[in-house]
Amino acid sequence: MFITFEGIDGSGKSTQAKALVSTLQAQGKSCIWTREPGGSEGAETIRKLLVEGDPNRWSAETEILLFNAARRDHLEKTIQPALLRGATVVCDRYVDSTRVYQGIVRADLRELVDLMHGIIIGREADLTFIIDIDPEVALTRGLARNSGEDRFEDMGLDFQKRLRAGFMELAKQNTKRCHVIDGSQTMEEVGRAVLTIYESVAT
Ligand code: TYD
Repeated sequence: MFITFEGIDGSGKSTQAKALVSTLQAQGKSCIWTREPGGSEGAETIRKLLVEGDPNRWSAETEILLFNAARRDHLEKTIQPALLRGATVVCDRYVDSTRVYQGIVRADLRELVDLMHGIIIGREADLTFIIDIDPEVALTRGLARNSGEDRFEDMGLDFQKRLRAGFMELAKQNTKRCHVIDGSQTMEEVGRAVLTIYESVAT
């Protein structure tokens, strides 16, 4: 099973993705954690180009090409081999981030994103958790990390509000695959909500 976590910057999705992996591994299941952009050696190199530096460093079109280059390498080297040996793959961000960040909010390029995804990647997640949170709370969390990977956080509050709306729209269009979870709850509550949905889908 291929599971993805999505949400705006600082939504807590990374913590939740890792928590799900720990839970499944503790149950004796073969399960790996991975992330985008990144998740393979080549894709991690491309990641640095995307998440560091000036917010205007790349156009949305160039970003789509870079994200797809990273994703293709990630798919070939990490995701597909793990799925083929029967492992569950939990990925922190995937193509829904490209759909929303580059396809809706950075520019009106949703069709291009879907077209490129169909041609070059061709794999959707089986299950997607969208961790939903007020952008003001999330922005404080994200920037507080001061990770040096703040290029998208630096695009500001209005950008994050439009991202949130974009993720909600996406969830409405994909009700079977996408599950929205209230990220303002405690970490434990969000974790329990994730697990309940996972169990209902996986069994
Ligand atoms: P991530 O490491 O998940 O950041 P965070 O933990 O702060 O949420 O992702 C890095 C940034 O890349 C994030 O701001 C979202 C952005 N991004 C896109 O714009 N498009 C994409 O396709 C992906 C995968 C990420």
